[in-house]
Amino acid sequence: MVPVDWPILYRQHLATVQARADAALARGGFDSLVVPSGTLHYQAFDDRDYPYAVNPQFKAWLPLTRNPGSWLAYTPGARPKLVYLQPRDYWHVVPQAPAGYWTTNFDIVLIRTPEEALQHLPADAARCAILGEAQSAVGAFTPNNPQAVVDYLEFHRAFKTPYEIAMMRQATRRGVRGHRAAERAFRAGASEFGIHLAYCQAAGQDAGELPYGNIVALNEHGAVLHYTDLDRLPPKPLRSFLIDAGGSHGGYACDITRTYSADRGDEFQALVDAVDSAQQGLCAQVRAGFDYRQLHLDAHLALAAILKDFGVIKLSPEAALETGVSAAFFPHGIGHGIGLQVHDVAGFAASDSGGTIAKPEGHPYLRLTRVLEPGMVVTIEPGIYFIDMLLDELRQGAHADAVDWTRVDAFRPYGGIRIEDDVVCTEADPVNLTREGFAEA
Ligand code: GLY
Ligand code: MN
Ligand code: MN
Repeated sequence: MVPVDWPILYRQHLATVQARADAALARGGFDSLVVPSGTLHYQAFDDRDYPYAVNPQFKAWLPLTRNPGSWLAYTPGARPKLVYLQPRDYWHVVPQAPAGYWTTNFDIVLIRTPEEALQHLPADAARCAILGEAQSAVGAFTPNNPQAVVDYLEFHRAFKTPYEIAMMRQATRRGVRGHRAAERAFRAGASEFGIHLAYCQAAGQDAGELPYGNIVALNEHGAVLHYTDLDRLPPKPLRSFLIDAGGSHGGYACDITRTYSADRGDEFQALVDAVDSAQQGLCAQVRAGFDYRQLHLDAHLALAAILKDFGVIKLSPEAALETGVSAAFFPHGIGHGIGLQVHDVAGFAASDSGGTIAKPEGHPYLRLTRVLEPGMVVTIEPGIYFIDMLLDELRQGAHADAVDWTRVDAFRPYGGIRIEDDVVCTEADPVNLTREGFAEA
């Protein structure tokens, strides 16, 4: 493992973030950027709060994810200011004083009540782009989220700095530890709930700290794309295991999926291996200048070829894509951008001043339509599923004869397969953060 010089990487990152803010403010005609970290949300008719989720525009500047009521204020030409809420409170854990490699880059003021922030924010709120949700407002500082500013920042956030890639490697290390423990728990016969607990223990993160709810699916449950029920008892017999689970580090996410057969020598494992090999081919296509929409269509062709090889469908890959047959088995997008958010923003952005790149017709769930460029990090997550609802529609439609239904019935009890890695587009060969993470472990 190459040692990371966090202070230097962070300083470079902050310089990039500031340059982007300078340009975004110029676009919007504002003097300053003001970003609240966000506030707690409460359940209706109750005094219980939902898990706090930091404003992504805030954590783009600082690795702070547990500080409601704080503010970032930046005026081009001046050092960024952090207004840091450290309430007087004996009911809850109070955030510790700011510490770490990033602190020397900020003017930091501590406040004890949310309202005190007003004394430290720019004088004229009307001259500020204030990015956040409405309930973060304090005094005149009500988020206005100017479109020109948001468009610019979100478009450029697709391009990760070396610091951000290093943060995502750290998130991946956690995810990989969790995945390895989860596979062991599966092989030992644990329930979905038991596997989930083994995952959290090994990743060192509680469910609320993970970047999304763990998908831990045994047998047929693998056919529910976002299965999060976590059954308390293991099924009998145990056939298959699909796990889509991530990890977080300083606000950055990883997003990893693996699928296993209980019997390493059976046909389902052979199908998993075929998807894994196709997935590696698709990861190799993460290259500057390549259209991610084409990558999605290429995934359909590769997966349809596998379905044909395994005798599930009788069509050529091209015909399977054309007729929508492949979409019955692969009904989601090939992936998405990832970074501060597991599904990163601006997936359809045509430019940093707005516009939308349309999805290919008939592919409504693709989350990213941009051309790949160096610095982008994307997931590559092909899958083959046996989903009753979609198979029933296929069977009742015009292409029912294109399918060998006895083969479908043979695979149905295994649910589905997904293999997902996080891949960095560079000037040269792609860097697969997930495979590197597994290799390092
Ligand atoms: N974990 C959700 C996804 O793969 O997009
Ligand atoms: Mn994903
Ligand atoms: Mn995933």
